[in-house]
Amino acid sequence: MSYVTAIVLAAGRGERLKSKVPKLLAKIGSKPVIIHTLEALSRNPSIKDIILVANAKNLREMTAWVKRYHIRKISSVVEGGARRQDSLGSGLKAVDNRTDLVLIHDAARPFIDKNLIDSVINIAKKSGAAITGVPVKGTIKKACGKVVDKTIERKNLWEIQTPQVFKKDLILKAYKKFGKIDVTDDAMLVEKLGGKVNIVEGSYSNIKITTPEDLVLAEAIAKRIR
Ligand code: CTP
Ligand code: MG
Repeated sequence: MSYVTAIVLAAGRGERLKSKVPKLLAKIGSKPVIIHTLEALSRNPSIKDIILVANAKNLREMTAWVKRYHIRKISSVVEGGARRQDSLGSGLKAVDNRTDLVLIHDAARPFIDKNLIDSVINIAKKSGAAITGVPVKGTIKKACGKVVDKTIERKNLWEIQTPQVFKKDLILKAYKKFGKIDVTDDAMLVEKLGGKVNIVEGSYSNIKITTPEDLVLAEAIAKRIR
C-alpha cells in the first residue's frame, strides 16, 4: 500500500472573507472550518500523516483546536509563506522519505468526501498526477477590458479544486524547477514539466470558503451531508 502524506495549506490571510474571526477558525455548525477539513483527511485510512501549514498568526490557535478535537496523524505543523506556493514549499520540506504520494489540499475546503479522496489517490497511484474539479456551469467569455473578445467553448472547461495528488518525486522535481514562477494551483507545476495530469470529476459541494456568502452556503451543505 502506498504511503500518502497530506499537506494542508492553512497559511492564507483569508482577506476576502472580511471577518473578524480568522477564516479557517470561522465556525460551520459547532466546529471551525479547519477542523472539518482535518477530520475528513485524518479519518481516511489511505492517508498516513498530515502536515499542517499555518501562518505565524493562526499557528498557536490552530494547534490548540487540533488538540481539542484530538485530530490524529498530524506529523508536523509548519509555517507557510507569502504566496500559496510558498506555503506548499514549507509543506514539501516536511515530507519524509516514507512518503510515496503527496496529497495537497486547501484547508478552506471542508467538504471532501471519502470517495473523492480515494479516487484522486488511486488515479495518482497509477498515473503520477491527479486532481479534482467540476465541469464549468456558466458561460465563460474572454474580454479585452470590458468588450467581449470571444466565448470559450464550455464543453472542455473544468473548475479545478483540491485535493491534488502527485507522486512525491514528481511534485518535488516540479517544485524545484518551477516553484518560483507564479502558479494558481499545484498541478500547474507538473504541467510545466510536461507531465500528464488526470482530472477526477468531483463535487459542486467541495466549495472553497472564500467570500462571506460561502459561509452561508457551507452551513447548508453541512446540514445536508450530516
Ligand atoms: N494559503 C496558504 N498560504 C498562502 C495563501 C493561501 O496556505 N500564502 C491557503 C489558504 O489558507 C487556503 C488555500 O491556500 O486554505 C486557498 O487559498 P485562498 O482561498 O485564497 O485563501 P486565503 O489566501 O487565505 O484567502 P484570501 O485570498 O481571501 O486572502
Ligand atoms: Mg488567497
